Amino acid sequence: MTDSPKLLAAKAAIKEIKQGQKIGLGTGSTAYHFVNLLGEMVANGFECVCVPTSIETEKQALSLGIKLSDLDSLGELDIVIDGADEIDGQMALIKGGGGALLREKIVADASKRMIVIADSSKMVDCLGKFPLPIEVNSFGLGATKVRLQKIIKDFGGSGGLTLRKINDEENFITDGGHLIFDAFFGRICDAKALSSKLLEVPGVVQHGLFIDLCDIAFIADENGVKRYDR
Ligand code: A5P
Repeated sequence: MTDSPKLLAAKAAIKEIKQGQKIGLGTGSTAYHFVNLLGEMVANGFECVCVPTSIETEKQALSLGIKLSDLDSLGELDIVIDGADEIDGQMALIKGGGGALLREKIVADASKRMIVIADSSKMVDCLGKFPLPIEVNSFGLGATKVRLQKIIKDFGGSGGLTLRKINDEENFITDGGHLIFDAFFGRICDAKALSSKLLEVPGVVQHGLFIDLCDIAFIADENGVKRYDR
């Protein structure tokens, strides 16, 4: 059976990992492949210490015998490998489709290098088709919603804002105990300005725009993997 594009991208990234490194482990179906490959290397004697970006990845890594630590002990990491929901020509990202954006951004920011692995469907000319995840505190939710709707309008978005749910009754709760709004922009023309504006809202904990964080991207399709450097 041929490898899926996500697995191909993960296999390209695993070659960048060096013995003894402090490694951030991303979240999602592409990062899942990377963690499995790392687990195989660890089983064969490869040494590293890792910080997971979600409880889900933590469970996977532990089941594979990967040594884990946290940023309290390590402070800084050598590298993080993570997926993305969208990646543009400047290697700006939208992340958080799986809801792990806060930990993912903290870990990416604490890492000397960020490698993104994705299939080619994630490459876009302009960010914003994928709804932007915005992690918010549950206190003052209504007021935060009004502020966010205004920002979406000011930035030319369709105005749609949806509180993420897991079913009709229950909201999606992040690993940090927060809620997520998915914001529909359609096209994000100035990601940096939008990022600053969103972070001005007191109820916003973090958003899924990752700007100037990704250093290398391995993007794969059925024909193979391409490497992009920022
Ligand atoms: C998790 O919160 C996300 O940021 C993921 O990294 C992103 O959604 C990519 O996921 P897939 O690899 O499953 O497409």
